[in-house]
Amino acid sequence: MIFQQQLRIPGPAPLPERVVRAASKPMIDHRGPEFAAVLNDILGGVKRVFETRNDVVLLSSSGSGGLESAVANLVSPGDRVVCCVGGNFGERFAGMAAAYGADVVRLEAEWGQPIEPVDLAAVLEAHPDAKVVFITHNETSTTVANPLEDLVGVARRYDRITAVDGVSSVASMPIEIDRIGVDVAVSASQKGWMAPPELAFVSVSERAWAQSQRARAPRYYFD
Ligand SMILES: Cc1ncc(COP(=O)(O)O)c(C=O)c1O
Repeated sequence: MIFQQQLRIPGPAPLPERVVRAASKPMIDHRGPEFAAVLNDILGGVKRVFETRNDVVLLSSSGSGGLESAVANLVSPGDRVVCCVGGNFGERFAGMAAAYGADVVRLEAEWGQPIEPVDLAAVLEAHPDAKVVFITHNETSTTVANPLEDLVGVARRYDRITAVDGVSSVASMPIEIDRIGVDVAVSASQKGWMAPPELAFVSVSERAWAQSQRARAPRYYFD
């Protein structure tokens, strides 16, 4: 009998038996054609869950690496950006933006409260040069799901790029990347996907690819 430990924390989620079986298959060349075929198949499925036709990049890192890739590819040192902070993971995104040299404007909500779209509009009005808005969809540390569609709608009205931490939301709640117009969204395998940790998924819109060409933060593996 397999003893299944029931961790009552927000991930890693328990692994279904067939995921465990798939993970126990013999190794294949991770740079070879057999892997490329598996990867393509997986990315097709991942896009369905993200509800997007945008490119999705798969990174061998936990969700935090996916978040860092979003920052590293969207900002240049000295850029003004807006970070929505209402809990621990909003803090993390803001900390990463600061680490990459961004001039961070913090839009804060009291922990336990959502970020208000009217407050985002006011911040964007006050900072016309802030190109990118970082938003946590589901703020796991407080369990608050922010009103993503409205927040992204405001950012689009002001013609800003959005980068969304969907680590604990994508695959657990609808996100509809294309319908609401999210530029970059990040998720991670150990949450709603019910897979082992250390894979990050990052969806990238055409606007985000163009911004990544302009951005000048130092980057290499996560470029
Ligand atoms: C909203 C959110 N962002 C980021 C992370 C960090 O993800 P990881 O532990 O995969 O680096 C988590 C993990 O719980 C999370 O819930």
